[in-house]
Amino acid sequence: MTRLTVNNEAVEYRMPPETPLLWALRDASNLTGTKYGCGTGSCGACTVDVDGRAVRSCQLTIAAAEGAFVTTIEGLSRDRAHPVQLALIAGNVPQCGYCIPGITMAAAALLKRDPMPSDAAIRAAITNICRCGIYPRLIEAIQRAGR
Ligand code: FES
Repeated sequence: MTRLTVNNEAVEYRMPPETPLLWALRDASNLTGTKYGCGTGSCGACTVDVDGRAVRSCQLTIAAAEGAFVTTIEGLSRDRAHPVQLALIAGNVPQCGYCIPGITMAAAALLKRDPMPSDAAIRAAITNICRCGIYPRLIEAIQRAGR
């Protein structure tokens, strides 16, 4: 059994310890806002916050995450929309939307440590892949969210 805190609630996963956190969140916790894209750590669709850092949950086993505080997109916006979400909407950023939860989690983690990130800092921190090509609008929106 693996114990974590997910979106401020204690959870126990009765799954093999090598289970990626992504699948524990989706299959056991029914937190399907965290998306599966590549499964190899490349796309960022599965990004969640683990102890204050943006982490690709397909690459982290639940055993490695034991005791961690995990926030998913559902937890980020439980009470009200996060500033990143408001800025994404205001900037008409999302297209198909599949990558947006992961990008939102990565952007929220970035803004916690750097509220006024430069273009270069955003490009370095947000390496998530978007096949719709929203990147120029995305950078503007992240900077707006930090103001
Ligand atoms: Fe985890 Fe692509 S699904 S990085």
